This record gives sequence, C-alpha cells and structure tokens, in this order.
Amino acid sequence: MHIVSSTRPADSRADTTRRIRGNTTMASKASPKAASRHGAAKVYDFDRIYDRRQFGSVKWANQWDEFSPRVEGENLLSLWTADMDFRAPETVIERLREAVNHGIYGYTRRDPRHYEIVRAWFERRHGWAPALESLLPAPAIMPAVAVILRTFTKPGDGVIVQTPVYSPYFEVVRGNQRTLLTNRLLLRDNRYEPDLDDFERLAANGAKVFLLCNPHNPAGKAWTREELEALNDICARYGLLVISDDIHCDIRLSTLPHVVFSSISEDAADRSFICTAPTKTFNLAGVPSATLSVANKARREALLFAMQTSFMVNANYFGRLALETAYSTGDQWVDQATIYIGENVRLVREFALAHLPGITPMLPETSFLVWLDARELDRKVDGIQRFFVENAGVNLYDGRVYGPGGEGFIRLNVGCPKSILQSGLQRMSDALSSRK
Ligand SMILES: Cc1ncc(COP(=O)(O)O)c(C=O)c1O
Repeated sequence: MHIVSSTRPADSRADTTRRIRGNTTMASKASPKAASRHGAAKVYDFDRIYDRRQFGSVKWANQWDEFSPRVEGENLLSLWTADMDFRAPETVIERLREAVNHGIYGYTRRDPRHYEIVRAWFERRHGWAPALESLLPAPAIMPAVAVILRTFTKPGDGVIVQTPVYSPYFEVVRGNQRTLLTNRLLLRDNRYEPDLDDFERLAANGAKVFLLCNPHNPAGKAWTREELEALNDICARYGLLVISDDIHCDIRLSTLPHVVFSSISEDAADRSFICTAPTKTFNLAGVPSATLSVANKARREALLFAMQTSFMVNANYFGRLALETAYSTGDQWVDQATIYIGENVRLVREFALAHLPGITPMLPETSFLVWLDARELDRKVDGIQRFFVENAGVNLYDGRVYGPGGEGFIRLNVGCPKSILQSGLQRMSDALSSRK
C-alpha cells in the first residue's frame, strides 16, 4: 500500500492533476504559494501531507475498527471518514506536549473555567451563550446520545431521524432497543428540505424523541431558523424531546448562521439536549471531549446521575486540555481552515463540472464533507462507491450507509491537503473515462 509521507507526492498520478489545475502544491514546499493565496495572515500549512498510518488512523487504514470489514484496494486514497488530515492548532499541540512531558497522567477534573471557555466560544462564534449551570460534560457526542435515549425513553419508543443521515444514529437507536423512525428529507434543486408532513405523521403516531443533526451530515446543510421553528412547532405539539447534535457547527462555508435549536424559544430550550464538541472543528476526534447544554433542571440532574452511574463523567486528561486550549486559542486556526476547506469545495465543484460527468456535488454550507449525487452512474456501474475503490483507488463513503435517500450518493471528505484531493478527483475522472 502506498504510504503518504511529508516528502512524497500523495500520488504519482499528481502530475496529471497539475496539468489540469495548474496550481498543485506538494507537502512541505507549499508555504510561499499558499501564503499568497490566503494573504499575509496565513500561518497554518494545510497543504502539508503527513503519514497518518503510523499512528493507527481509521481513515487511512480504511477500516473503522478491528471488528468491521476493511476496504481493500491498491494505493487507496482515503477520502471517507470524517476527520481531517490537518494538524491541530499549534497552541493545542504545545499544551498537549507540555502535558505529555509532565509525564503524570492521573485523574483530572474540569474546573469552572472549563465551562466558561465553552460558553465563551459559542457566544463569540455563534451568538449563543448557554447558562453555565446548563452545561454538562460528556466523553463524546455519541455516548451522550446513547445515555440520553436510555434515560428519557423506554424500549420500543420511537426516535425520528431525518435521512440520509450520519449512520451511527441508526445504531444508537436500534442498539438501545428503541424504534427508528425515518423521516426522509425532500430533495429539491439539489438541496434538502424537511418533510414536515411526514415528520408530523411520525410525531402524531407516538414518537418520543427527534434526533436532529444540526448542521446536517452528510449534506452539510445549515438548518434555517424557519425550518427549525417549523420542526419545533411539531415537537411541541406532540411533546417530543429533541437531541441536537451540533458537532459540525463551526466550519461555516456560507454566510448562513448556526442556529442552535435551544435558541429558537424558551420552550425549545426546555425540551432539548444540545450536544457540542470541538472534535470535528479542530480535528481532535482521537482526544475527544464534549459538552451538553440541558436547560431543564430536572432532566439535567437525571442525565448527570445517569452519566455518573455509567462512570462517564471523569475527564480524559488530554481531551480536557485539548478542548480548553482549542476553544480559547483556536479562532484563527478555524478561520483559516474554513477558507482552505472552502477552496477545496470550490475545486470539487469546478472539477466535477468539467471532468466528472454524472456527478453533481451538493455544496455544503458547513463542514468539510461534500455529498455527491451519482445516482445514474451508480445504477450503470452497479455501485459507484465500489467502482471508485476498484477502478480509481479512491475510498469514499457509500451513500447507502446513510439510510433511505442515500442510495446512489457518495460522501467526499475534503478536509485534506489540496494535492490529495486533486489526485483523488483526477483518479475518479480517469476511471470514469476509461469506462467508456
Ligand atoms: C453528525 C456526527 N455526530 C457525531 C459524530 C461522532 O461524534 P463523537 O466521536 O463525539 O461520538 C460524528 C462523526 O463523524 C458526526 O458526523
């Protein structure tokens, strides 16, 4: 298998890419050119390529864990699972380095400053200042979702998810013996909209919880206030609790704001659990730490009790430090990463238009994920994800994983150096051309 290193191009086929784009920058040589693209303020090198395999990267092993099947292919370029190939902000690295060097990794606690840092981040970035007493810690988003479901619903209770959507939602609902209720999003003009009639039908039939992905993964959709209000009206009418997963809220590619569900009304705040984490934002998924906001006091206390008795509240030493340092010093890093990701999204759009017939990207308003509509091709090649693994050496996420409505789509992760993305796109184009 081809090893990506900081001294070698991502792909020997990168030469072809260079001809097409004319601006491929490789690894450590990238800084001066890249700096001029971003202006003098650029201080981070997102072009640099690192060998992530040496530390057991899920993404570059093309296998989620030792229990799941591995995607096999020659020289696979890994553009699938949702972490980025960028180094975290230098301030975070330095803080973790200090902690590593200190050498004593005992129990650690979050002091009140921890929660003030979280609140200050959301206030600064999104104009949302949750009450400090509403905040609870969690090891990561999905464990928190599981405990919320177990604490506030009974086996068999219905949980609505809007598909296509992040697939662990299916596992967390079904695996905890709740009933998965799929509310398929409506696809209009290459954009998703909520299907409110179907949502209401499910709510009226006894659903207990709405598990909202805000912003939406895989589409990168920023839900508007009007959409959230309409969904909340239905939830309020039928008494549904709302779990909002805001993990992708920080990388904002459009001018649309991030509307936190609990900010739309007091009643929405009272019935919701807002789940946040710095892990997607700063590429810290391996040192996870999350924060929940639960405005309702009785539910907050019940949830804290449930998490304490599941022994989930002790902080991870590195996760806590990473969260605090990222949220208090990482603004510029996110701003620059967002610009870089925005350029990568533009590259996908332009390249697809010119060289990927049959593939239409849905441009994300947030996140580093691009949802590609390849439905016709999918039928023609009998599975577009497998086609690209086998014929292009590119591993993307198969849209089927995301449930009803995902068939024929593929998800492309653009949180990577431009040269890797260019190589991947070129390989995809070559594979499609040689098919004819
Ligand atoms: C929408 C969404 N929620 C949650 C997660 C995972 O969160 P965690 O690792 O904190 O459980 C992901 C990761 O891809 C995600 O995309």
